[in-house]
Amino acid sequence: MAPFEHVVILTGAGLSAESGLSTFRDKGGIWSKYRIEDVASPEAFARDPAAVLAFYNMRRRTVLGVQPNAGHAALARLEADYPGKVTIVTQNVDPLHERAGTKDLIHMHGEILKARCAHCGDAMRWEDDLTTDLACRACGKAGGLRPDVVWFGEMPYDMDRIHAALETCDLFVSIGTSGTVYPAAGFSAKALSLGAHTVELNLEPSRRRDMFVEAIHGKASEIVPAYVARLLGR
Ligand code: OAD
Repeated sequence: MAPFEHVVILTGAGLSAESGLSTFRDKGGIWSKYRIEDVASPEAFARDPAAVLAFYNMRRRTVLGVQPNAGHAALARLEADYPGKVTIVTQNVDPLHERAGTKDLIHMHGEILKARCAHCGDAMRWEDDLTTDLACRACGKAGGLRPDVVWFGEMPYDMDRIHAALETCDLFVSIGTSGTVYPAAGFSAKALSLGAHTVELNLEPSRRRDMFVEAIHGKASEIVPAYVARLLGR
């Protein structure tokens, strides 16, 4: 029998760092070069859509050229081989979990390789640059396309499903996230208060360190495969 019946995993930018994607709040991270209020809010998009699209065009091009690392691969292995239930929730908008083979994934902050139309609401795969004059492939109307990512002030995706998972999990593992942005930063406290074992796998103690019963600090490409091997009893 599996030591835990339902494992919920939350991942953040630190998991993709060794694939070559910048984190947000580490030294030299994305938010040291850009202001959130200029590029990642509905108000910024209303004020200067071209600047916001340029920020995501740059990040989309980067994402297209990177590969998953051993941390992503280990989590795909866990989903495939673990005898209990595994729910993976990511704050990352990159496609590296899927590329590593994860099948059932909750992208709570959206996906950078998708565009969403403000006119019809459709979300569609989109690998090219977005510009303000493009027409939606679904409804044909121009000027409404934006990256399908969640901006500050917007509601993350699939919150009902995430809360249901947090309520039934008996192991919660947080990987590569600083624990700064809510609601994700509150998941560890919720899982802990409901009796789950909570584990942090991060380069350094996160802001939510007190909410974790166990913490392992190091590079995701090393500590995630080691932890997954432990869970799989190998
Ligand atoms: P942060 O940049 O806030 O935190 C990244 C964490 O990863 C830090 O605690 C680092 O110590 C850790 N880290 C860095 N390199 C690592 C490595 N190689 N192995 C393990 N850990 C490493 O990123 P997030 O917490 O993911 O949201 O940020 C959360 C949200 O803030 C993002 O989803 C994004 C951002 O604003 C939106 O844009 C809505």
